[in-house]
Parts: sequence; C-alpha cells; structure tokens
Amino acid sequence: MGRKKVMLVFGTRPEAIKMCPLVKVLKQHPDKFETLVCVTGQHREMLQQVLDTFCVIPDYDLHVMRPGQTLFDITSGVLAGMKPLLDAEQPDVVLVHGDTTTSFASALAAFYQQVPVGHVEAGLRTHDLHSPWPEEFNRQGVDLLCDWYFAPTETSRQNLLNECKPDSRIWVTGNTGIDALTTTVRQDYRHPLLDWARGSRLILVTAHRRENLGEPMHRMFRAIRRVMENHPDTKALYPIHMNPLVRNAAHEELDGFDRLRLVDPMDVLDFHNFLARCHLVLTDSGGIQEEAPSLGKPVLVMRDTTERPEGVDSGTLRLVGTSEEGIFEAFTELLDDPAAYEAMSRASNPYGDGHASERIVHALCGGA
Ligand code: UD1
Ligand code: UDP
Repeated sequence: MGRKKVMLVFGTRPEAIKMCPLVKVLKQHPDKFETLVCVTGQHREMLQQVLDTFCVIPDYDLHVMRPGQTLFDITSGVLAGMKPLLDAEQPDVVLVHGDTTTSFASALAAFYQQVPVGHVEAGLRTHDLHSPWPEEFNRQGVDLLCDWYFAPTETSRQNLLNECKPDSRIWVTGNTGIDALTTTVRQDYRHPLLDWARGSRLILVTAHRRENLGEPMHRMFRAIRRVMENHPDTKALYPIHMNPLVRNAAHEELDGFDRLRLVDPMDVLDFHNFLARCHLVLTDSGGIQEEAPSLGKPVLVMRDTTERPEGVDSGTLRLVGTSEEGIFEAFTELLDDPAAYEAMSRASNPYGDGHASERIVHALCGGA
C-alpha cells in the first residue's frame, strides 16, 4: 500500500487543541502518511494561540472569520474554500473533529467530492437538535456521511451502533483532548495570577455557547457574583471568549469586583495548568467537561443538556442549568459542603489514557 494523503481540517480553538496531537503523531510516520493541515480560520486569534503552542504550521488557511459571523457565513465560506483545495490535493481521507460548523461544512465538502471522511470524537449525543445548538446537528450530520468513526468512549460507540452505523467502521480511541492535556500540565508551572490567587479558593469560569448568549449568560454571571460576594475566601479567573456579545455581558455584570479577574483567552498551556490547580470550574464548555474529570476538578456545567454523560456518571460534573437560582444554590453548596465537594473531586479517566491519537493512526494504517 502506498502513502495515504490525510488532510486534517479544523478551525476553532477546541478543534485545534484536539487535532494538533493527532497532527504530531501522523507526522511521525512520513513513510505511511502525507499529512496536510487545513485551517478554516473560523476562529482567528484563539486558533493561532493553539497552533503556536503546539508548533503546528497549517498548509492551507481559508480565512473565513468575520466579526459577527453567522452560521450562513461560516458554512458557505468553508464550502467555497474547500472545493478548490480538494480538487488540487485529492486527499485519500479528510479528518474533521467534533461538532462545529467548520466540522460539518468541511465534512460536507469532502462528501460532495466523494472523499472519505474520518470523524474524530464521533458519536456524542444529546439527542436534542436544539441543545447544544447548532452543535448537536453538526455532529449528527458528520456522522451521517463519514466512513471512519473515532469514538472517544464506549458510550459514544453505543450511540453510533443505535443509529445502525457499521461496527467495523467504529474505533473506540479515547479523546485526543486528553493527549493534549498530558503534554501541557507541568509540576513546576508558575504564573503571576497563581500568586494573586494564593491563599484563596480559585474558581475558573468560562462561557460562550450560542444558546446561552443574552439573558442566560447574564443570569449565570449574576449568580456567580452573588455567591462570591458571600464567600470572601474565593477568587475567580475568567478568560473571556473573544465573541463581543460574551465580552459585553461579562463586563456589564462582573466589572468592579476585585476578586474576579476578567482576562483575555488564555494560552492552552496556561489554561490547563490553572485547571489542574483550581478549586472548581463553572462553564458551559464541552472540552472542559472532558479535561476536568481526569484532573479531579468539580465542574458545574451551566447547561440543560450534555453530550458528555461519562463525567456526570463518574461524579465530577453536575448539570446545573442556566437559571440564576439553580446556579446560585449549586455553587453555594459546593463551597459550603465539604462532603459534596469531596464527592465531586475524585479523579477518573472516562476519556482515555492520553494515547487516542496513536489509536486513530493505527486504525488509519488498517489496524483492527
Ligand atoms: C464556535 C463553535 C462552537 C465551539 C466554540 C469554541 C460553531 C457554530 N460554534 O462557537 O461549537 O464550542 O467555537 O470556542 O461552530 N471571535 C474572534 N476571534 C476569535 C474567535 C472568535 O474575534 O479568535 C469572535 C468573532 O467576532 C466571531 C465570534 O467570536 O464572530 C463568534 O465566533 P464563532 O466561531 O462564530 O462562534 P463561537 O461561539 O466561537
Ligand atoms: N481553553 C483555553 N483557554 C481558555 C479557555 C479554554 O485554552 O482561556 C481550552 C480548554 O482547556 C479546552 C478548550 O479550550 O481544551 C475548550 O474550548 P471552548 O470552551 O472554546 O469550546 P468547546 O469545548 O465548548 O467547544
């Protein structure tokens, strides 16, 4: 068998964090693979941060990001950008990741060109097309058209089997996000903001989901502030997503409160090291729900649904919805009740051992 031409396509921060480890492993096998990296640029600065950290230089960049971009802009930009690229390169397989509009549109472009698609992080489901929106559709859409299913867990494999996907095309690999985490967290890590937080319980906050923009996000921030005002031994760090709608809401609700620092998106190396050292996390992020269990950090998930039930089952994650009172009560309990905190802070490993990329590469080589 000759060399396989593998084109990885990704465009946002979380995709990049979970695809860069795979790029690295593929590039260790130049005899078996020609590895091409195409970024759509759905994110710009937040994508570049990750590429710099992992020293990955894309072969192609579709530059799709526009301020205030809509799903129409991203989808049409990716489809139009991918066509000439696929014509020119004719890859043997296109690898996409997860559930973003980049993932869906680039998989669709490959499908239109009749290029086989491999889906990294296949099979996650909430079974509610509106939550998370539009991610649940994106993920199901990619799984409709792909040829290789790289499922992170047995639960995601089962979701795929329930939809009659062929067992022989599904590989349970673990999540490549854990591969990334094993390279970033360091014992000797130092940062001025860790010095600032020393002696306090450090809370990490992130939020960005499209369905939480507007009033839900304001409710989240008000609840967090109220709880922290009642607990003088807490400090919080909140690296705000670059979406101006998120930034405006965060500044409106949280400015002028010294114990909560609003900062720019953190480099993934910094963020993972803060995650490893914090007391607990409040977030609506997907990726953080995978990272926190392996670090034994309790997460209050400010959403109504999750496609990552493994962390809930292992006890590290708790879905708290987006009502102000729901978040207020759950956050207060976790700070005031040592037994509740203890029960949520046992490390577990539902998302793998940090070798997911190797398993994907083995499968692409034709391994069982
Ligand atoms: C996207 C994904 C979401 C993923 C999230 C990770 C879709 C529909 N959404 O949502 O699944 O969880 O990324 O963060 O694919 N912006 C910048 N610079 C950046 C990044 C974003 O300025 O580096 C601003 C732009 O104004 C942009 C806005 O943020 O218009 C929103 O970005 P977009 O990618 O459309 O949505 P996300 O909420 O980031
Ligand atoms: N992350 C980061 N810097 C930050 C906040 C998060 O590097 O300031 C990382 C985090 O560790 C996780 C990923 O970004 O790996 C999650 O990305 P995001 O929340 O943007 O998207 P989601 O996972 O919800 O799709």
